Amino acid sequence: MPSNRIQIAPSILSADFARLGDQVAEAELAGADCIHIDVMDGQFVPPITFGPIIADSIRDRVSIPLEIHMMTLHPENHIRQLVDAGVDRIIVHVEACPHVHAVVQQIKSSKVEAGVAINPGTSLSAAEEILPDLDQLLIMTVNPGYGGQSFIPSSIPKIERARRMIEAIGRSITLEVDGGINTTTASIAVDAGATLLVAGSAVFTHDSSVAEAMSTLRRAIDAPTFPVDH
Ligand code: DX5
Ligand code: ZN
Repeated sequence: MPSNRIQIAPSILSADFARLGDQVAEAELAGADCIHIDVMDGQFVPPITFGPIIADSIRDRVSIPLEIHMMTLHPENHIRQLVDAGVDRIIVHVEACPHVHAVVQQIKSSKVEAGVAINPGTSLSAAEEILPDLDQLLIMTVNPGYGGQSFIPSSIPKIERARRMIEAIGRSITLEVDGGINTTTASIAVDAGATLLVAGSAVFTHDSSVAEAMSTLRRAIDAPTFPVDH
């Protein structure tokens, strides 16, 4: 998998909300490919985070795409507001959508990209029928709801299977992973077939600036997995 195809999506869940605009601008300057916005409703997942007004607030601070990761029940009720806020992509959970085909069509008819996310305990087959309609498939590599959790190792064969499913369809569907991505797990996910990595706590960290954290992560992705002879 050529490393120049690998994208990084900083998740604002771990950002300093008192400086949110500056933090997303810094992430873009540091090479972020899009901004990942985790919308949680306190129902599908325990925490409540934020919604369209946050997307609207940061829309003017960056020119890269905004992607919405909807961890809510009834995501279809919020699509219009999110589109009006200027988002570029909306990802809904297959577990939250009994009528996922209809929701995906609703998103696409709003002229934004559509993605589906699946939880660690959900079989990949739950996304199989809808896959040809998607711009993006998101494999959760932690249970959703919180930043700073550890990457679940059994996700690796699942990412590999998802990559094979996408190749079999022959369309360019982005394979995204979300949860526990750091300098160790990033290259593991890429080797398994992921092309877009969400990173929250690895990017918005107290240990270094956003720029330093992004460049450390980028180096880890670009480093060869095996030693090469010179
Ligand atoms: C968790 C969210 C993630 C979260 C990832 O439910 O979907 O986007 O921000 O955080 P890290 O990268 O810290 O695991
Ligand atoms: Zn997310």
